[in-house]
Amino acid sequence: MCKEKYRNIAEQNERRGNRYMKKTLFTFLAAAFSLSLAAQEKFGLSHGPYLQEVTTDKATVVFQTSGKAFSWVEVKPHGAPEEECVRYYASDHGLKMAYNTFNSIRLKKLEPAKAYDYRILSKEMRSFQPYKVVFGDSIATPWHTFSTIDPEGKGASIFITSDMHGDAAKLDTLLHWADYKTCHAFFYAGDMMNYMDRPELPFTSFIDISVKRFASSIPFEVVRGNHETRGNLAREFSRYFPKEDGKIYGAYRLGDIMVVMLDSGEDKADSHPVYAGLTDFDAYRTEQAAWLEELVQTKEYKTARYRIVISHFPMVMPSDNQKEGVWKGWEDAIRKFLPVLNRAGVDLLVSGHTHRYAYYEAGTEGNNFPVLIQGAYSAARLDVKDGKIQVKVIDTAGQVLKEAVLDTDKR
Ligand SMILES: [Fe+2]
Repeated sequence: MCKEKYRNIAEQNERRGNRYMKKTLFTFLAAAFSLSLAAQEKFGLSHGPYLQEVTTDKATVVFQTSGKAFSWVEVKPHGAPEEECVRYYASDHGLKMAYNTFNSIRLKKLEPAKAYDYRILSKEMRSFQPYKVVFGDSIATPWHTFSTIDPEGKGASIFITSDMHGDAAKLDTLLHWADYKTCHAFFYAGDMMNYMDRPELPFTSFIDISVKRFASSIPFEVVRGNHETRGNLAREFSRYFPKEDGKIYGAYRLGDIMVVMLDSGEDKADSHPVYAGLTDFDAYRTEQAAWLEELVQTKEYKTARYRIVISHFPMVMPSDNQKEGVWKGWEDAIRKFLPVLNRAGVDLLVSGHTHRYAYYEAGTEGNNFPVLIQGAYSAARLDVKDGKIQVKVIDTAGQVLKEAVLDTDKR
């Protein structure tokens, strides 16, 4: 266990004030000269912690410190004494990550269906020279609790929304109406941001409010929307939502539920002038379609009692969106993904993008499964149990837009 002294923090930065100011004029001037504005802010976490990719035996803890630091995570079985802590670091090529602010630390060798407590410890690094490291403040966050996935788990309550376009208050309203405290899994189906051109945007758009409500204990999954492919930081997207395989698309089993997350890319053709020749989504969607073909043949997929697919683009195109030759990227996604999904016993596809809530019954637009288009002012709550998916779509005023019960055992 740690022998050093750590200041317990409440994970909200406080202002440091004049902590370093001395009483004499000389020391006051020296301190005022040497302290940067950043140093005057009390060292702590500026964002997170939030969980990503929690599996049966692994989990990733993501957080950002307010200044450059050396950080790690301590983990123990839920309720166990601190002496049982195991430390996890981010380490690459023999070096522990240090003198950084953004952290993504993978916890491994966990047991399935087990609750764990974790906390973050961090030592501010005021100077990092080849032969001299000067540490500053040391902090410890409160303990948080999470559980690894139970492979024998049956059903779940799932929250899904999309198209918040940076409106964290709207997301918070929808979490409230969907009774998020009783949900076991959270999915953001794309366009949670308008674009990525500032490092803070993912946090202010939806991560910070998720942390405030649930994300230190339950992970959220982000399915990328076309807007998140835009902006000069779009190539940093996956850094915020790290996956062991480095992919943005993927699938996993939440007990007996198979969740498939597709990355549908941009809505227009790669050759469209607005992309300046910098997109490669046609090839990317082809790669995903091949992966999807293999996925639906796996035992993991076939033995799932429920199969839910999440994609930013709907796999049907509403009639008022059908403009000849305009949405070639969206059309390409439908052309490549829908035939595979139609053969794969999908129970429900949840999507976004159009900003207008819509629900397509199976068999209405070439889709062999129901397609829910999640509007920009609503969220879906799926209560999955006893061979049924209860679908409830609620808007920002708390009005129920849709209620349906899908009998998945009769698929
Ligand atoms: Fe979109």
